[in-house]
Amino acid sequence: MPPAQSKTSSKTPSSALSRHRIWDLPTRTFHWALLLCLVGAVVSVKTGRMQAHLVFGSSLLALVLFRILWGFAGSQTSRFRSFLPRPKAVLACLKAFFQKNSPHIGHDALGGLATLTLLAILLVTSVVGMFANDEILFEGPLAPLVSQTLSDNLTFIHKQLVKVVIALVSLHIAVVLFNLLYKKDDLVSPMVFGKKDLPPPLARQAKTLRFAPTARSVFCLLVSAAVVASVVLL
Ligand code: HEM
Repeated sequence: MPPAQSKTSSKTPSSALSRHRIWDLPTRTFHWALLLCLVGAVVSVKTGRMQAHLVFGSSLLALVLFRILWGFAGSQTSRFRSFLPRPKAVLACLKAFFQKNSPHIGHDALGGLATLTLLAILLVTSVVGMFANDEILFEGPLAPLVSQTLSDNLTFIHKQLVKVVIALVSLHIAVVLFNLLYKKDDLVSPMVFGKKDLPPPLARQAKTLRFAPTARSVFCLLVSAAVVASVVLL
């Protein structure tokens, strides 16, 4: 069953709020590790450290593969089916975009759409990067499998996709800050500590959330890392 994405009609006094776990440790670790890898990938390429770029890019790909597995096998709020962005729900979210005091558990429809879009573009960008070259000494581990012309074209596409990624991440951060500063909805501390202050109806639903065992996330991470390592090292 998807976690709740309901609204409270009036402002809930802070004394009525109670703190509940909504995000599991693997999803939170994934998120901040993803940030680290993306920043590392951008900085290393700008400073000409292509081996480091390969390490950050491959780690980013492994993280995205992990998150895809976790979207099927993870905790309730992290599963794709709990935040599949249905068009009506996205429209409703857009209409309520400026409405304050609309807490939810997990991603709302817009958050779900952003999550899937970011994961998809990060996946394509990092896979395409595996076929790219820097026109000097460096080439991605899969570049020898394609012709020079195709590798050059994929390099161009990789660079364009990186611009889209940076634009989407900037938008993502802007929306998170908008939620924090204008809507007074702090999404950041739940993504750091896992817990969120919820009004009574949502608190009741939060108590029924199911969390997957952390050992399962280690297994998913090992599978993702093995897939990427076999591509990079073989
Ligand atoms: C490289 C930069 C970043 C990328 C690629 C990124 C990507 C993502 C992704 C994929 C999710 C979905 C999480 C999941 O369900 O697994 C997410 C959620 C989230 N991110 Fe980021 N993020 C970035 C930077 C940031 C930063 C700097 C902040 C804080 C200011 C932030 C705050 C959040 C929050 C609060 C959520 C949860 C949103 C919600 O509750 O719906 N992100 N991010």
